[in-house]
Amino acid sequence: MTVPISIKDVAAHAGVSTGTVSNVLNRPERVAVATRERVNAAIRELGFIRNESARQLRVGRSRMIGLVVLDVANPFFTDVALGVEEEAGEAGLSVILCNSDDQIARQDRHLELLQEQRVQGILLTPVEAGDERIGRLQQHGTPVILVDSRSANGGQCSVAVDDVRGGDMAVSHLLKAGHRRIGYVAGPVSIRQVADRRDGAIQALQRAGGQAGNLIVIEGPALNWAAGKQAGADLAGMRSRERPTGVFCANDLLALGLLQELTRRGIKVPDDVAIVGYDDIEFAAAAAVPISSVRQPRRQLGRTAAQLLLEEASATGPHAHRQVIFQPELVIRESSGHRPRS
Ligand code: RIB
Repeated sequence: MTVPISIKDVAAHAGVSTGTVSNVLNRPERVAVATRERVNAAIRELGFIRNESARQLRVGRSRMIGLVVLDVANPFFTDVALGVEEEAGEAGLSVILCNSDDQIARQDRHLELLQEQRVQGILLTPVEAGDERIGRLQQHGTPVILVDSRSANGGQCSVAVDDVRGGDMAVSHLLKAGHRRIGYVAGPVSIRQVADRRDGAIQALQRAGGQAGNLIVIEGPALNWAAGKQAGADLAGMRSRERPTGVFCANDLLALGLLQELTRRGIKVPDDVAIVGYDDIEFAAAAAVPISSVRQPRRQLGRTAAQLLLEEASATGPHAHRQVIFQPELVIRESSGHRPRS
């Protein structure tokens, strides 16, 4: 399958930024003649064909798209946003980034503002699944694409990773390494991703002959570093023969906090407690004890979500919603590399 020439290829060939290429295509008057000619020569030489669907975006709407994430401080969403921005920039669009902080009231305020701004569409990681607010936006003609989430009724396009499989991979790895007391450090299980990862962990335990009740769940108030530290304090407070020797964390920020607190309390990782995180953000590999993690293709999630939005925003007839599911990948590092001592 030939890969279509992208704006990035044209930019590299002409020795300019993708933004300059986008300007030559959409606002040529802003580009110096010599640069414009160099870019147009590259377009001819490479045989670049612009994404026509992006050109026919909804008229009467701004050249912006909205992105509403659960936690802008989480590098997972930063990487997703970079992917969104890359794709949007190639279509001559800008991105308005909003943070719901996992609060439905803040999410609603952002959605209302974005609708007032007449954005081409909204990419949303919803605070709650199956939210009827989304349907109202769509009724007013605003495409909504679910990111890192699945559409409960197929009423929106969505892009996500198979989090059940991701949780299964993490705990299967710990079981294979010889761990029998398995813990799950979770954020609020009201967040679908967290619940799916837990279900995958249970699935792995049951396949190995265990029961759902064997999973030692520590459910914290959030999916952040502080909640991971608190989980570390909780685990350190357990009698060592009851403490899980293999711990799966719902994301890498929890794993980083857990690692720091266990280490501070003299509990060795992985000798006493092995840790597996989720997302594979850059800080996982950079940790004092590099953390094993279930990798999500973060930028690809962002690019694909933006592509789905462009398709829907430029659709001239009926639009068939698509649910895109990516597969997770287990990255094994020092934090889970040894067999348990106890
Ligand atoms: O938003 C919380 C978590 O869910 C992130 O770390 C990422 O894993 C997302 O899927």
